[in-house]
Amino acid sequence: MKSTKRLMSAAALSTFALSTSALSTSAFKAYALCALLGLTLSASAEVVPPGSADEIRERLEPFGALCRAGSDCGQTAAPVSSGPQSGEDVYNQFCFACHATGASNAPLFADSEAWQPRIAKGMEVLVGSTLNGLGLMPPRGACMSCSDDELGAAVQFMVDQVP
Ligand code: HEC
Repeated sequence: MKSTKRLMSAAALSTFALSTSALSTSAFKAYALCALLGLTLSASAEVVPPGSADEIRERLEPFGALCRAGSDCGQTAAPVSSGPQSGEDVYNQFCFACHATGASNAPLFADSEAWQPRIAKGMEVLVGSTLNGLGLMPPRGACMSCSDDELGAAVQFMVDQVP
């Protein structure tokens, strides 16, 4: 008796599975999509960011004020942190653009052949070239918001990576 009952419930289960799979026809999918779309539409119509227009503008301000590469953004281009940047940070933000790619024929990062003759000139000369610019390298390696110390640290970082 028991085993027949189990058999019957198994049959019921498979019918159930069948009917649900039948539901997932394209018609059902289209219906679900419509329902979803309706939800999204009504949601986007109702959700308004909190605050007045001025408050919203103020919140978005930091993004609108982003500095584009190549424009003179002065101090506003300074990164988020207020403390001095490490040489590695400065390198990764500014110097990397040329020295990692060889753009403008810049001596490649950690390229011993390119750097040994320059290192031989001494740190003072290298930092001086960076501050004043040299050949196709713009003054301050294009980091107008960097302090002399930060640029010196960047040169030190680059020199330290030369094998
Ligand atoms: C626009 C590309 C560019 C950027 C950005 C740049 N450099 Fe250069 N850099 C060069 C080029 C090109 C040279 C080779 C100049 C030459 O010898 O004529 C160079 C050379 C140097 C030298 C060797 C100077 C010497 O006296 O031989 C140092 C040091 C240096 N760069 C450091 C930096 C640092 C630090 C930064 C970032 C703060 C930086 N560079 C950013 C292009 C760039």
